[in-house]
Amino acid sequence: MKKLIVIKFGGSVITDKKKETPTPNMKNINSLAKQLSQVSLGNRYKFIIVHGAGSYAHPLAKKYQLSKGMSTEEQKFGFALMNRQMLELNLLIVKSLQDYNLSAVGLAPHSFVTQSEGKLKKLDHKIVKYLLKGNQIPVLYGDGVLDDKWGCSILSGDTIVSHLAKKLKAKKVIFLSDVDGIYDSDPKKNPEAKLIKEINSENLEKVLEGITSNNPHDVTGEMKGKILDIKINLQGVPVQVLSGLKMGNLDKAVVQGLGGTRLQFG
Ligand code: IPE
Repeated sequence: MKKLIVIKFGGSVITDKKKETPTPNMKNINSLAKQLSQVSLGNRYKFIIVHGAGSYAHPLAKKYQLSKGMSTEEQKFGFALMNRQMLELNLLIVKSLQDYNLSAVGLAPHSFVTQSEGKLKKLDHKIVKYLLKGNQIPVLYGDGVLDDKWGCSILSGDTIVSHLAKKLKAKKVIFLSDVDGIYDSDPKKNPEAKLIKEINSENLEKVLEGITSNNPHDVTGEMKGKILDIKINLQGVPVQVLSGLKMGNLDKAVVQGLGGTRLQFG
């Protein structure tokens, strides 16, 4: 039986997240596609790819304030723009994977996923299941989707990852970002920041305390939030958070379970 692995390509890896207009990072996209084609050779795994948005959607979501609905004509136009830009990013990633001979199939969440007050309501995972059965690689992404209470809301790639990993019983989840894993403080601001190799139920409290005491100015929300999200939404699934910027990392994570921070709860 092939092992199902869900991989998130973070928006900071596949795009230049600092830019206000869509700016892909083709070097990283192609490097990830190449690595995925290498680990696919042995035919031992099935993959679901979920990618982030980076500069293809975050600036628009902010400009048109799309996280809690679209009531004005301007917001509706912004939503349409965001959907189109995300399709373009998805196309770049799918094409790169196909260039490495992988049967990648893009699935646009705004066309089949709905939310209710910003929470996932309906995602037909059977579409994903059928593709996996046919040895194809579904490629989904964080997107602006319709929301039955607000009109629209933002569906993050992380939510898709957790939902599919649980529904389809993934053996592992890998989050690729632009840092080496989860640190005890922000490594971009603090050169003394230490990488935490392992987080589980036993050391969780200590880790969270350490993160707080190392960050007196409250930059901790993001890291804490990520850990708690994983604890709540990915119970029982081994998770690895590591850098997607280094060649060979994907292989190490998939095959050996090495690199970055490993998390497992329950
Ligand atoms: C964001 O998805 C989706 C939109 C803003 C439309 P993610 O949260 O998964 O994206 P990144 O990884 O932060 O860019």
